[in-house]
Amino acid sequence: FTVLVLNGPNLNMLGKREPEIYGHKSLIEIMTELSQAAAKKHIELSHLQSNAEHILIDAIHDAYQKVDFIIINPAAFTHSSVAIRDALLSVAIPFIEVHLSNVHAREAFRHHSYLSDKAQGVICGLGARGYSYALESAALWLEKQD
Ligand code: DQA
Repeated sequence: FTVLVLNGPNLNMLGKREPEIYGHKSLIEIMTELSQAAAKKHIELSHLQSNAEHILIDAIHDAYQKVDFIIINPAAFTHSSVAIRDALLSVAIPFIEVHLSNVHAREAFRHHSYLSDKAQGVICGLGARGYSYALESAALWLEKQD
C-alpha cells in the first residue's frame, strides 16, 4: 500500500515554532520515525511539506489512482481552504486529518475545519504521536479493504 503524508504551512518550523504548543521534535524527525514505522508495515510512505496551498493541491491531484491513503495536517489551511477540501474530494482518496495541538482548546477560529466532515477520522492534541496513530489506523483499514 502507498500512503501520502501532507503537511501544510509553517510545519517546516516544528521544533523551533511555539514548542510549548507543537513540541520539540522537528518535522524531519517526526517523518523519519513515521517512515520507519511504515516500512515495518510494508507501506510505501511519501511525504511533502509545503507552505503553498497550490503545491499541496497539486500533490493531492498527483496522488489520484496512485495513492491508497492520505494523512494530512493542513495546518492553517484547515481553517481556510475550500480548495484543499475540494481537491481531496476530487481524488476520492480516504484521509485522516491530524493536528499536533488540540485545536478545540485554542482560539475559536481553529475550531472549524473545512476537512473534518469528509475525513475518515480526525486526531488532535496528541502531538507527533497523532501521525503514528493515523498510520496505524490507515494500515488496519487498508488491510481490511484488500
Ligand atoms: C495545526 C493547528 C492549526 O490551527 C495551526 O494553524 C497549525 C498547526 C496543528 O498541527 O496543531 O499550523 O494544524
